[in-house]
Amino acid sequence: MGFVVAIDGPAGSGKGTVTKIVAERENLISIDTGAMYRCVALECLNQGIDCTQIGRIEKVLEKIDIRLEKEQGEQKVILNDKDVTTEIRETRVNEVVAKFAAIKSVRNKLTPMQRKMGEKQDIIMEGRDIGTTVFPNADVKIYLECSVEERANRRYKQNLENGVESTYEEVLKSIKERNRLETEREISPLTKAEDAILVDSTNLTIEEVVDKITEIIKRKRI
Ligand code: DC
Repeated sequence: MGFVVAIDGPAGSGKGTVTKIVAERENLISIDTGAMYRCVALECLNQGIDCTQIGRIEKVLEKIDIRLEKEQGEQKVILNDKDVTTEIRETRVNEVVAKFAAIKSVRNKLTPMQRKMGEKQDIIMEGRDIGTTVFPNADVKIYLECSVEERANRRYKQNLENGVESTYEEVLKSIKERNRLETEREISPLTKAEDAILVDSTNLTIEEVVDKITEIIKRKRI
C-alpha cells in the first residue's frame, strides 16, 4: 500500500483545485473519483439509459473501462478509449450524475477500482466517501467544508468566466439540491469520517487551503 491522502467534501469546496496543487507539491498522484462517476453517467446517457434501468446500467458496468491519465502535465479522463475530459463536465452530465452515484452497483464497481489505484503508488484521492469507505485507513484524511452560499458564489463566478448563463439563485438552488442528494443517500453518503481533519475553506484563499493541507501531510509523512 502506498501513502494515501483522502480528501472529501461537497461540490464547490475547492477540493479539485486544491488536490491538484497539493499533488504537485507533495509528489502524489491525484485521483478525481467524481470523474469516474461522471464517466458512468455519460456512458449511460449516450446509450439512452436512465438511472432507473438498473439491469441495463449493470450491463454497462460489466464492460466499462475508465482510465485517469496524465498527458503533458494535463489530467485526462479516458472512457472506453475515448478522451471525455471535457464532455463529463457538460450540464447534461451535471444534471444526472448524483442519481447514478447513488446506485449500489455503480458504487460496488467503482470503489474496488479506486482502491486498486492506491495499491502501489502514493496518492491523493478526492471524492465524497474516500475517508469513510474507499480508504478508511488512509494515512491522512481531510474533510473540506465550505458554506453553501460561498460555494454557490464560486460556482456562479466560474460560470461567468466560462460563458455559462446562470443566475446566483439558480446556482444556489442546484447546489443545495445536490447537497441533499449526496448527504441523504443510503450508500456512502457525504459525511466527515470521525478521524478526518476538518478544514473550512469558506474564508480562505486556495493558497491558504493548500498550505494548511500540505502542512498536515508533511507532519504525517516524516
Ligand atoms: O466531484 P464531482 O462533482 O465531479 O462528482 C460528481 C458526482 O459524483 C457527484 O454527484 C458526487 C458523486 N461522487 C460520489 O458520490 N462519490 C465520490 N467519491 C465522488 C463523487
